[in-house]
Amino acid sequence: MFARKDLLGLRDLSEDEIMTILETAKIMKEKIDNPSLRSDELKKSSIVTMFYENSTRTRMSFMLAGDYLGAMVKDLGVATSSVNKGESLIDTGKTLDQMGINVMIIRHRMTGAADVLARNVNASVINAGDGSNEHPTQALLDLFTIMDYKKHFDGLNVTILGDISHSRVARSNAFGLTKLGANVTLAGPSTLISGSMRSLGVDVTSDIKGAIANADVIMGLRIQFERQKNMPFPGLREYSSLFGINAETLKSAKKDVLIMHPGPVNRGVELATEVVDGKNSVINIQVKNGVAVRMAILKLLTDANR
Ligand code: CP
Repeated sequence: MFARKDLLGLRDLSEDEIMTILETAKIMKEKIDNPSLRSDELKKSSIVTMFYENSTRTRMSFMLAGDYLGAMVKDLGVATSSVNKGESLIDTGKTLDQMGINVMIIRHRMTGAADVLARNVNASVINAGDGSNEHPTQALLDLFTIMDYKKHFDGLNVTILGDISHSRVARSNAFGLTKLGANVTLAGPSTLISGSMRSLGVDVTSDIKGAIANADVIMGLRIQFERQKNMPFPGLREYSSLFGINAETLKSAKKDVLIMHPGPVNRGVELATEVVDGKNSVINIQVKNGVAVRMAILKLLTDANR
């Protein structure tokens, strides 16, 4: 059962709602490779993507997800829109509302932007990443990928490694994974992680070796240079030797450990190329699963608000 107007984060979703999305995504995934299974389920829906920050995966997968379900999908094109004449987020949303948009998908550098938009428009709003707060559809595709390979979450050890303090992906995954019964460890240099994150119900550590040895899943995170005022470590070479994962570090991990990353990867920094392209990596599968999960979310939200 899914009866929400908006999808703003995993903090507020119940375990049942998360599982409904993941189960719906299973059905949707078959339609990606087999166009004959596609139908015009969302034919009467209009969707707009509003990306105030750069994106390849999230924006394209939402646009394709809408296309695969027969919806009309448009991109606001923030860089060439009246946003650049100073139009506010709320006025932009109200303007799109009047044009008959049913679903607005927003990425914004400001924490809470999706929530502000959702409170001011009739359309359903999907948070495609707000500041350092949440990136719920990324976490849902990560959960979907883990479920696909590991078949369960209960007692699973998931290590999220890297630039935790700036990561909305880490926060959304922490909310989702703990709700489903996984043990989450947030690992990274002390300058990129805060002990206060233990309040999310996770372990926090700078003991990278321990966090890797124990893990069933290792999720590397990109160093978000664009969100940092000062370099939080002396250099990239030092970071990759102390906190990066390469073929050598992987020897101490479980043989069937899943290597994940939300992308884009700084190859050679958080993950070595041989790890990104190695046999434990499911990074490309995550991309495909992202389309399936976003199809599921569009379908469930649209059905709930027809
Ligand atoms: N993972 C992710 O959000 O990628 P993009 O920035 O390319 O959308």
